[in-house]
Amino acid sequence: MDELAVHRYAPGPRARLGSGPPRSWSVLGEPSTAAERMHRARVSGAAPAVAVVLGEHYGRHADRALLQGLALRRTHGWPLVLVHRGAGGGSLLRAVALEEPGPPLATVELTCAGAEATVAEVARAALGDTRWPDPPGSRRDVLAGADGRTAFAHWRPSALPRGATAEGPVLITGGLGGLGLRIAAVLAAAGADDITLLDVTPPGALPRADAAVLGRLRARVPGLRVLTADVTDRAAVARTLAGARPVTVVHCAGRVAGAPVSDCAPGDLAALRGPKATGLSHVLAAVRHSSLRALLCFGSVTSHRAHRMMGGYGLANEILRRRALAVAPRLPGCAVVVAEWSLWSGAGQAHRMGVVAGAARQGMAPIPLRTGLDAVTRLLAWPRGPEHAAALLLTPVAYGALPTAVVDEGDTAGHSGRRANL
Ligand SMILES: NC(=O)c1ccc[n+]([C@@H]2O[C@H](COP(=O)([O-])OP(=O)(O)OC[C@H]3O[C@@H](n4cnc5c(N)ncnc54)[C@H](OP(=O)(O)O)[C@@H]3O)[C@@H](O)[C@H]2O)c1
Repeated sequence: MDELAVHRYAPGPRARLGSGPPRSWSVLGEPSTAAERMHRARVSGAAPAVAVVLGEHYGRHADRALLQGLALRRTHGWPLVLVHRGAGGGSLLRAVALEEPGPPLATVELTCAGAEATVAEVARAALGDTRWPDPPGSRRDVLAGADGRTAFAHWRPSALPRGATAEGPVLITGGLGGLGLRIAAVLAAAGADDITLLDVTPPGALPRADAAVLGRLRARVPGLRVLTADVTDRAAVARTLAGARPVTVVHCAGRVAGAPVSDCAPGDLAALRGPKATGLSHVLAAVRHSSLRALLCFGSVTSHRAHRMMGGYGLANEILRRRALAVAPRLPGCAVVVAEWSLWSGAGQAHRMGVVAGAARQGMAPIPLRTGLDAVTRLLAWPRGPEHAAALLLTPVAYGALPTAVVDEGDTAGHSGRRANL
């Protein structure tokens, strides 16, 4: 496991932002107290800016509002701030910052009740603070709490557990995919004899190498179930998984497609998000929770580190992470962990698409298949209970720069001579 670096995403210490100029806000998104505050903070005649205000849940309305806001930024050159209460969307903005450098982009996440009181000041500061190093794709993500307290999220080194994994039925969504099949094989080799693979792809449509893995798996696990359903179809999932009592769920269903954000329609973003976030909700709605002891979701580093053409995929993974962590309190006896992997070599989407070598040349070393699979078995021993629910960033040690870990910029505040204690 030495080759993998494990980091946990967590709020950092308090940050002090500078102040930003008044703005003539164009407010898009959901009606809410925060949206009302942004409207009220509008100063006519001041420099224009867009505020996209979302609530706790990300859905199609959010796709529409974000893309509409980004179109205004593109057409008029206006800065854009995303304000939300847990819905997310910052990953899309980071990809835009790479693809369309220009006016500032920022995200303000309101982390508790009362944070609305200073939302307009925080939003202004997030857009207006020109002291921040701002290379393309870097983040301006601010966590805003009560009384104007602000923080940046940052990365803390973490480790994979060494405990025993729970025994019992295993359900793998996207189970006929490159990684799903290999995970099943590893769990079977470790003694799992009740494995269900759920996938939208019927087994007969598998490429030859994957069909061979499935054949060997069937030979080793006589009771292997291969179910065909689209996880975005709630009724189909409920029908297909009726009565299922998995102890372990590994949620691997997902699609990858690349396009510049400027070419994306709301439906394109929703299509990438569906198998991951909506699929997770449907699967959890279909299975019995009482037996569930481990939920491992396959996310991606792209939800934090932007890549050109991968904004929609990064967003899908961000919303998956948020959805999984939000559901943890409803799964009290279960370990919930979202593994945000960099790309894998040896099997899976990146391997199949032939992008591993190119990525490695750009400093993004891949996770070798064996290393990743060893990590999966250890992640399945993650401690149970909502208080331990976590998102982990898993990259090879040799991986290029992590998303900037901004720890505390308090010392640099006041550089402009106008120190605001937000
Ligand atoms: N491979 C990597 O380098 C890497 C890195 C980071 C994260 N991940 C994530 O890890 C997971 C597994 O990746 P992988 O490389 O094994 O990808 P994969 O080979 O494409 O497997 C994903 C499987 O999910 C299936 N699927 C897609 N939409 C579905 C739906 N609506 N309902 C049910 N099944 C659906 C796919 O079917 P179709 O083929 O028919 O679409 C495919 O069989 C994915 O979520 C991926 O985003 C992968």
